[in-house]
Amino acid sequence: MPTRRPYVGGNWKMNTDRTSGSRLARAVIDALARESAADVAIFPPFPYLITVGSILRDRPSAIRLGAQDCWTKPDGAFTGEVSAAMLRDCEVKVVLAGHSERRHVIGEPDELVGQKAQAILDGGLECILCIGETLKEREAGRTDEVNRRQLRAGLADVSREHLHRLTIAYEPVWAIGTGKTATPGDAQDAQAKVRGELAALYDSEAAESIRIMYGGSVKASNAAELFAQPDIDGGLIGGASLQADDFVAIVRAAASTPRR
Ligand code: PGA
Repeated sequence: MPTRRPYVGGNWKMNTDRTSGSRLARAVIDALARESAADVAIFPPFPYLITVGSILRDRPSAIRLGAQDCWTKPDGAFTGEVSAAMLRDCEVKVVLAGHSERRHVIGEPDELVGQKAQAILDGGLECILCIGETLKEREAGRTDEVNRRQLRAGLADVSREHLHRLTIAYEPVWAIGTGKTATPGDAQDAQAKVRGELAALYDSEAAESIRIMYGGSVKASNAAELFAQPDIDGGLIGGASLQADDFVAIVRAAASTPRR
Protein backbone atom coordinates (compact mmCIF):
# COMPACT_ATOMS: atom_id res chain seq x y z
CA MET A 1 0.00 0.00 0.00
CA PRO A 2 1.46 3.42 -0.91
CA THR A 3 2.28 5.90 1.85
CA ARG A 4 0.49 9.15 1.24
CA ARG A 5 2.65 12.17 1.97
CA PRO A 6 0.77 14.77 4.04
CA TYR A 7 -0.36 17.85 2.14
CA VAL A 8 -1.42 21.19 3.60
CA GLY A 9 -2.77 24.14 1.62
CA GLY A 10 -3.21 27.72 2.82
CA ASN A 11 -6.19 29.26 1.03
CA TRP A 12 -5.91 33.00 1.60
CA LYS A 13 -9.25 33.60 -0.19
CA MET A 14 -9.91 37.33 -0.86
CA ASN A 15 -7.60 38.47 1.94
CA THR A 16 -4.21 40.22 2.30
CA ASP A 17 -2.76 43.02 0.20
CA ARG A 18 0.58 43.21 -1.59
CA THR A 19 2.47 44.15 1.58
CA SER A 20 0.77 41.82 4.07
CA GLY A 21 0.66 38.94 1.56
CA SER A 22 4.40 39.30 0.92
CA ARG A 23 5.08 39.38 4.65
CA LEU A 24 2.93 36.30 5.23
CA ALA A 25 4.58 34.39 2.39
CA ARG A 26 8.08 35.24 3.66
CA ALA A 27 7.22 34.22 7.23
CA VAL A 28 5.78 30.85 6.13
CA ILE A 29 8.63 30.13 3.71
CA ASP A 30 11.33 31.01 6.25
CA ALA A 31 9.71 28.98 9.04
CA LEU A 32 9.34 25.90 6.84
CA ALA A 33 12.63 26.23 4.94
CA ARG A 34 14.28 23.18 6.44
CA GLU A 35 11.19 20.98 6.75
CA SER A 36 10.26 18.55 4.08
CA ALA A 37 8.00 15.93 5.65
CA ALA A 38 4.83 17.47 4.20
CA ASP A 39 3.86 19.05 0.89
CA VAL A 40 2.72 22.64 1.30
CA ALA A 41 0.96 25.06 -1.05
CA ILE A 42 -0.20 28.64 -0.56
CA PHE A 43 -3.04 30.21 -2.54
CA PRO A 44 -2.80 34.02 -2.68
CA PRO A 45 -5.38 36.11 -4.56
CA PHE A 46 -4.70 36.37 -8.34
CA PRO A 47 -3.16 39.89 -8.29
CA TYR A 48 -0.44 38.77 -5.87
CA LEU A 49 0.60 35.53 -7.59
CA ILE A 50 3.57 37.09 -9.35
CA THR A 51 4.78 38.83 -6.19
CA VAL A 52 4.47 35.70 -4.02
CA GLY A 53 5.94 33.61 -6.86
CA SER A 54 9.02 35.80 -6.95
CA ILE A 55 9.41 35.51 -3.16
CA LEU A 56 9.22 31.70 -3.52
CA ARG A 57 11.80 31.77 -6.30
CA ASP A 58 14.25 33.86 -4.24
CA ARG A 59 14.28 31.55 -1.23
CA PRO A 60 15.09 27.88 -0.88
CA SER A 61 11.58 26.47 -0.61
CA ALA A 62 9.54 23.53 -1.79
CA ILE A 63 6.30 25.40 -1.13
CA ARG A 64 4.05 25.36 -4.18
CA LEU A 65 2.35 28.42 -5.55
CA GLY A 66 -1.39 27.85 -5.84
CA ALA A 67 -4.32 29.64 -7.47
CA GLN A 68 -7.86 29.65 -6.11
CA ASP A 69 -9.69 29.06 -9.38
CA CYS A 70 -9.33 29.02 -13.16
CA TRP A 71 -11.50 29.00 -16.26
CA THR A 72 -12.16 26.00 -18.49
CA LYS A 73 -10.79 27.32 -21.79
CA PRO A 74 -7.17 28.08 -22.76
CA ASP A 75 -7.85 31.61 -24.09
CA GLY A 76 -10.52 33.74 -25.73
CA ALA A 77 -13.35 36.13 -24.96
CA PHE A 78 -13.96 35.33 -21.29
CA THR A 79 -13.78 38.69 -19.58
CA GLY A 80 -12.52 38.52 -16.04
CA GLU A 81 -11.34 34.91 -16.22
CA VAL A 82 -7.87 33.36 -16.27
CA SER A 83 -6.75 30.12 -17.92
CA ALA A 84 -4.62 27.24 -16.68
CA ALA A 85 -1.97 28.25 -19.24
CA MET A 86 -1.82 31.78 -17.80
CA LEU A 87 -1.47 30.40 -14.29
CA ARG A 88 1.32 28.10 -15.41
CA ASP A 89 2.99 31.06 -17.02
CA CYS A 90 2.92 32.72 -13.57
CA GLU A 91 4.66 29.66 -12.07
CA VAL A 92 1.51 28.36 -10.41
CA LYS A 93 1.72 24.62 -9.69
CA VAL A 94 -1.67 23.81 -8.18
CA VAL A 95 -5.22 25.12 -8.60
CA LEU A 96 -8.41 24.67 -6.57
CA ALA A 97 -11.59 23.54 -8.34
CA GLY A 98 -15.05 23.73 -6.79
CA HIS A 99 -14.24 25.41 -3.52
CA SER A 100 -17.49 25.67 -1.57
CA GLU A 101 -17.53 29.47 -1.86
CA ARG A 102 -17.41 29.10 -5.65
CA ARG A 103 -20.16 26.49 -5.57
CA HIS A 104 -22.46 28.13 -3.03
CA VAL A 105 -21.69 31.87 -3.11
CA ILE A 106 -20.83 32.27 -6.81
CA GLY A 107 -23.17 29.46 -7.93
CA GLU A 108 -20.87 27.11 -9.87
CA PRO A 109 -22.68 23.90 -10.85
CA ASP A 110 -21.07 20.45 -10.53
CA GLU A 111 -20.52 20.15 -14.31
CA LEU A 112 -18.59 23.41 -14.51
CA VAL A 113 -16.40 22.28 -11.61
CA GLY A 114 -15.69 19.08 -13.56
CA GLN A 115 -14.70 21.09 -16.65
CA LYS A 116 -12.40 23.20 -14.51
CA ALA A 117 -10.77 20.14 -12.92
CA GLN A 118 -10.15 18.73 -16.37
CA ALA A 119 -8.76 22.02 -17.70
CA ILE A 120 -6.39 22.29 -14.73
CA LEU A 121 -5.09 18.73 -15.17
CA ASP A 122 -4.95 18.99 -18.98
CA GLY A 123 -2.97 22.20 -18.46
CA GLY A 124 -0.28 20.21 -16.66
CA LEU A 125 -1.12 21.57 -13.22
CA GLU A 126 -2.08 19.88 -9.99
CA CYS A 127 -5.77 20.08 -9.08
CA ILE A 128 -7.34 20.09 -5.63
CA LEU A 129 -10.99 19.20 -6.19
CA CYS A 130 -13.12 20.44 -3.27
CA ILE A 131 -16.32 18.66 -2.30
CA GLY A 132 -18.63 18.72 0.70
CA GLU A 133 -22.19 18.93 1.94
CA THR A 134 -24.20 21.84 3.36
CA LEU A 135 -25.66 21.72 6.86
CA LYS A 136 -29.12 21.01 5.44
CA GLU A 137 -27.75 18.09 3.43
CA ARG A 138 -25.89 16.72 6.46
CA GLU A 139 -28.99 16.96 8.63
CA ALA A 140 -30.96 15.13 5.96
CA GLY A 141 -28.38 12.30 6.06
CA ARG A 142 -27.19 13.11 2.54
CA THR A 143 -23.47 13.70 3.19
CA ASP A 144 -22.20 10.64 1.32
CA GLU A 145 -24.66 11.08 -1.54
CA VAL A 146 -23.60 14.71 -2.07
CA ASN A 147 -19.89 13.82 -1.91
CA ARG A 148 -20.45 11.00 -4.41
CA ARG A 149 -22.35 13.29 -6.81
CA GLN A 150 -19.74 16.07 -6.62
CA LEU A 151 -16.92 13.57 -7.02
CA ARG A 152 -18.51 11.88 -10.04
CA ALA A 153 -19.21 15.18 -11.77
CA GLY A 154 -15.84 16.64 -10.76
CA LEU A 155 -13.94 13.67 -12.17
CA ALA A 156 -16.25 12.89 -15.10
CA ASP A 157 -13.56 13.44 -17.72
CA VAL A 158 -10.44 12.96 -15.63
CA SER A 159 -8.43 10.05 -16.91
CA ARG A 160 -6.36 7.70 -14.80
CA GLU A 161 -3.04 9.05 -16.05
CA HIS A 162 -3.79 12.45 -14.52
CA LEU A 163 -4.58 11.10 -11.06
CA HIS A 164 -1.05 11.58 -9.71
CA ARG A 165 -1.74 15.33 -9.94
CA LEU A 166 -5.14 15.12 -8.21
CA THR A 167 -5.96 15.77 -4.55
CA ILE A 168 -9.46 15.80 -3.06
CA ALA A 169 -10.41 18.24 -0.31
CA TYR A 170 -13.44 17.23 1.74
CA GLU A 171 -14.80 20.44 3.20
CA PRO A 172 -18.22 20.29 4.84
CA VAL A 173 -19.73 23.69 3.97
CA TRP A 174 -21.10 24.19 7.49
CA ALA A 175 -17.59 23.90 8.93
CA ILE A 176 -15.92 26.47 6.66
CA GLY A 177 -15.11 29.76 8.35
CA THR A 178 -17.66 29.03 11.10
CA GLY A 179 -15.38 27.75 13.86
CA LYS A 180 -17.34 24.47 13.75
CA THR A 181 -15.08 21.56 12.85
CA ALA A 182 -16.36 18.14 11.89
CA THR A 183 -15.35 15.68 14.61
CA PRO A 184 -12.31 13.65 13.58
CA GLY A 185 -14.60 10.61 13.52
CA ASP A 186 -17.19 12.26 11.24
CA ALA A 187 -14.51 13.56 8.88
CA GLN A 188 -12.81 10.16 8.79
CA ASP A 189 -16.10 8.43 8.10
CA ALA A 190 -16.93 10.76 5.18
CA GLN A 191 -13.39 10.57 3.78
CA ALA A 192 -13.24 6.78 3.96
CA LYS A 193 -16.42 6.76 1.85
CA VAL A 194 -14.88 9.24 -0.58
CA ARG A 195 -11.91 6.89 -0.94
CA GLY A 196 -14.32 4.03 -1.54
CA GLU A 197 -15.97 6.06 -4.29
CA LEU A 198 -12.56 6.77 -5.88
CA ALA A 199 -11.95 3.01 -5.91
CA ALA A 200 -15.30 2.50 -7.64
CA LEU A 201 -14.53 5.23 -10.21
CA TYR A 202 -10.95 4.06 -10.89
CA ASP A 203 -9.50 1.19 -8.85
CA SER A 204 -8.27 0.54 -5.34
CA GLU A 205 -4.62 1.27 -6.18
CA ALA A 206 -5.58 4.72 -7.47
CA ALA A 207 -7.86 5.32 -4.48
CA GLU A 208 -5.10 4.45 -2.03
CA SER A 209 -2.67 6.86 -3.71
CA ILE A 210 -4.93 9.94 -3.99
CA ARG A 211 -4.59 12.29 -1.05
CA ILE A 212 -7.76 13.49 0.65
CA MET A 213 -7.46 16.69 2.69
CA TYR A 214 -9.94 17.81 5.30
CA GLY A 215 -10.97 21.47 5.38
CA GLY A 216 -13.25 23.48 7.63
CA SER A 217 -12.05 25.43 10.69
CA VAL A 218 -8.79 23.51 11.02
CA LYS A 219 -6.68 25.21 13.68
CA ALA A 220 -3.34 24.55 15.34
CA SER A 221 -5.29 23.14 18.30
CA ASN A 222 -7.33 20.54 16.41
CA ALA A 223 -5.05 19.69 13.48
CA ALA A 224 -3.13 16.78 15.04
CA GLU A 225 -6.28 14.93 16.01
CA LEU A 226 -7.77 15.33 12.53
CA PHE A 227 -4.56 14.34 10.73
CA ALA A 228 -4.24 11.23 12.90
CA GLN A 229 -7.26 9.73 11.10
CA PRO A 230 -6.30 7.12 8.52
CA ASP A 231 -8.06 8.77 5.56
CA ILE A 232 -7.18 12.40 6.39
CA ASP A 233 -3.98 13.16 4.50
CA GLY A 234 -3.65 16.84 5.41
CA GLY A 235 -5.77 19.96 5.34
CA LEU A 236 -7.01 22.89 3.31
CA ILE A 237 -6.76 25.83 5.67
CA GLY A 238 -8.60 29.14 5.32
CA GLY A 239 -8.68 31.50 8.30
CA ALA A 240 -5.72 29.95 10.13
CA SER A 241 -3.52 30.24 7.02
CA LEU A 242 -3.53 34.04 7.38
CA GLN A 243 -1.41 33.83 10.52
CA ALA A 244 2.04 32.44 9.74
CA ASP A 245 2.51 30.88 13.20
CA ASP A 246 -0.82 29.09 13.08
CA PHE A 247 -0.32 27.83 9.55
CA VAL A 248 3.21 26.63 10.30
CA ALA A 249 1.96 24.81 13.42
CA ILE A 250 -0.69 23.06 11.28
CA VAL A 251 1.92 22.03 8.69
CA ARG A 252 4.11 20.67 11.49
CA ALA A 253 1.17 18.71 12.90
CA ALA A 254 0.66 17.12 9.47
CA ALA A 255 4.39 16.45 9.01
CA SER A 256 4.72 14.74 12.39
CA THR A 257 1.69 12.49 12.06
CA PRO A 258 2.89 8.91 11.58
CA ARG A 259 1.80 7.72 8.13
CA ARG A 260 0.44 4.35 7.38
P1 PGA B 1 -11.55 27.77 7.09
O1 PGA B 1 -11.65 27.62 5.50
O2 PGA B 1 -10.29 27.06 7.53
O3 PGA B 1 -11.51 29.25 7.34
O4 PGA B 1 -12.77 27.12 7.66
C1 PGA B 1 -11.30 26.42 4.86
C2 PGA B 1 -11.46 26.57 3.36
O5 PGA B 1 -12.38 27.24 2.92
O6 PGA B 1 -10.67 26.02 2.56
